[in-house]
Amino acid sequence: MEYLEPLFRWIHVIAGVLWIGLLWFFNFVNIPFAAKMKEAGAAGTVVPELMPRALFWFRWGAVWTWVTGVLLLLLVFYHGGALLDGEGELLTTANLVMLGVTFLGVFIYDAWFKSPAAGNLRVAYSVGFVFTAVVAYLMTEWAGYGYRGMSIHIGSMFGTAMAFNVWFRIWPAQQKIIAAVKAGEAPDAALPALAGSRSRHNTYMSVPLLWTMINTHTGAFAGAGVVGLLVIILVGWHLVFQLYARSTKVEGA
Ligand code: HEM
Repeated sequence: MEYLEPLFRWIHVIAGVLWIGLLWFFNFVNIPFAAKMKEAGAAGTVVPELMPRALFWFRWGAVWTWVTGVLLLLLVFYHGGALLDGEGELLTTANLVMLGVTFLGVFIYDAWFKSPAAGNLRVAYSVGFVFTAVVAYLMTEWAGYGYRGMSIHIGSMFGTAMAFNVWFRIWPAQQKIIAAVKAGEAPDAALPALAGSRSRHNTYMSVPLLWTMINTHTGAFAGAGVVGLLVIILVGWHLVFQLYARSTKVEGA
């Protein structure tokens, strides 16, 4: 166990960098670049050559990050006792429900963003924020998770939704987009809209997620509890918003 943990951590961070690095490339470089490429009429050549290669590393990076993340959860939090700060029963109803929310919450997220009510993005994101707040509160107050346990489970909930988006929303849509572009046809407008919105959600989740991942190093904020994490999520979202704004101003040669 002593040797497995650092090895899993290493693979986890390598795969995470691969995945999230490409996610940020797609969002902060490729979106403005794609507009220029379209203007130049180069999409038919560049998209079928670039996107399958980039999406290969992207989706396998997501799998390896998720699998090694779950292995770390098992090793450090359930077997190692970090979930409840070493106190209390692991298999309580509250714990099982909150674990269910961590890994199955993705289906609530997916259904919500498919619903017409989520058409208003401000409302959609606000509901997502309130949902996260309620889950974090229940993890702490009902299930008795410590700071580290609560933080990593909110991160794992985000990460699971992100990996789901990669495999079941972005990749299937991109396959059809690439095929259409290669054939010189315009893809069905719903496809770039779906892939684009889920990629944007992932980018917004990725920055707060990284805070939750480094919880062994952020103990100074443990006293701020759930409220502290919620503030970090808002700061992270603002940072992503600023990065998107900046990305439209960075020029090519
Ligand atoms: C996909 C779902 C994910 C799960 C279930 C997960 C799970 C975990 C777990 C359990 C830990 C150990 C935390 C601790 O010891 O307190 C961890 C650490 C970490 N994770 Fe994740 N993670 C996920 C996604 C990501 C992503 C996308 C990245 C992006 C790079 C990432 C980067 C990290 C980093 C940098 C650490 C800290 C390593 C350390 O301090 O030793 N994780 N993750």
